[in-house]
Amino acid sequence: MIHQTTNWLMNVVELIATKRDGGRLEPEQIKNVVDGFSGEGVPDYQMAALAMAIWFNGMDHEEVVALTRSMLHSGKVFSWQGINRRVVDKHSTGGIGDKVSIVLAPLLAAAGFAVPMISGRGLGATGGTLDKLESIPGFQVDMSMEQIRRQVEETGCVIASAGPEIAPADRRMYALRDVTATVASVPLITASILSKKLAEGLDALVLDVKFGSGAFMKSRESARELAVSLVDVASELGLTASALLTDMNQPLGRMVGNSCEVNESLDVLKGKGPDDLRELTIELAFEVVRMAGEKDEATGEKDEATSRARIASLLDGGEAMECFERMVAAQGGRLSGPLPCAPVQPLLADRDGWIAITDAEQMGWAVIDMGGGRKSLEDPLDHSTGLEILVRVGDQVEKGQPLVNVFCRTAQFATIERRLRSAIPIVDEPVAALPLIGDRIRPDSC
Ligand code: URA
Repeated sequence: MIHQTTNWLMNVVELIATKRDGGRLEPEQIKNVVDGFSGEGVPDYQMAALAMAIWFNGMDHEEVVALTRSMLHSGKVFSWQGINRRVVDKHSTGGIGDKVSIVLAPLLAAAGFAVPMISGRGLGATGGTLDKLESIPGFQVDMSMEQIRRQVEETGCVIASAGPEIAPADRRMYALRDVTATVASVPLITASILSKKLAEGLDALVLDVKFGSGAFMKSRESARELAVSLVDVASELGLTASALLTDMNQPLGRMVGNSCEVNESLDVLKGKGPDDLRELTIELAFEVVRMAGEKDEATGEKDEATSRARIASLLDGGEAMECFERMVAAQGGRLSGPLPCAPVQPLLADRDGWIAITDAEQMGWAVIDMGGGRKSLEDPLDHSTGLEILVRVGDQVEKGQPLVNVFCRTAQFATIERRLRSAIPIVDEPVAALPLIGDRIRPDSC
């Protein structure tokens, strides 16, 4: 037994050394390491060393495919036999004020899809969909695969956490990467995201890959690299996926924080809400409809304008809101109107000028400072705190004009004010507005 363990460890040491020296691993070797890590054979310190070697030297396409496949099969995969709907989902790399999932899951359900959306909690400065939804009294996100399946069957959509059966190797590896500075690696991010999404047993996946000050990927080039990797690896593993590159140099919508983001999502579900949030939600839904190959009923042809108009009508006509209400009730939530927020204090412009590119990440940290996000894993959340950003990049402002409504406890305002002033620079020259949606990355066949 001791002999076997020693051989196994030697083998892993060799694989780590291969990656450290810039070599490549065979799919079978990657599978062995992930299997060993999922069991007891590969300890955390060896996986952390391998993650660091990958962080430095990257992986080629075949290696990333093998890593993703092995992490996927460390757990179970949903079966949707008997569900007579195309199964679809979206993943966002995360951004400040990104509450699209809360609207998109019921919107896609209203459009006739099944949406088993596995979501996450806050990461770095960005809020998490699960934390936001937990602002709704009673809302439960911890569900078994059977409960998720039943809810999708009954209501069309669910937003839940990844339980222990879904890609458990990713859960353990992500925790290691978090504390070893190896999160920001395109191969590791690709395998992490796709192992969980592939476990959902999807027919199509749309990806919102964000770039800018409030995103994980700061440059458009690095976001593009990640988007191409995600689309290519998904495609190789039999999942049709496409990605939108979207700007995160300013928050999406006006609200940043838990309860206030749910309230803004309710506005969009009522056919209102800020234009950028509605536009991106419709565009992501359109991408799903396009991938799912839906034809326009009247003409029998794919017609982009008709498709977008039909999606918008599901928001304006209340069908998406009905699906949202059914989802909330099924998950134990009690929602009878907008959620309460902390008292509001305005932050006023201290000079005339134009709003320059904002530091969106600082706005995320401001919400965390107010207790709306976690600094360590066990921190309780104050869902009522948040920001309403009243200006956009390129807006002309006058001294004394409100820039932000801060939902906070009175004592917090002075600290938040300092952060926000540096995050929202006012300059002397006009600044161009920022386009929200950049490139689309689609697989060759799509
Ligand atoms: N989100 C994930 O699920 N995994 C990563 O590695 C990064 C973001």
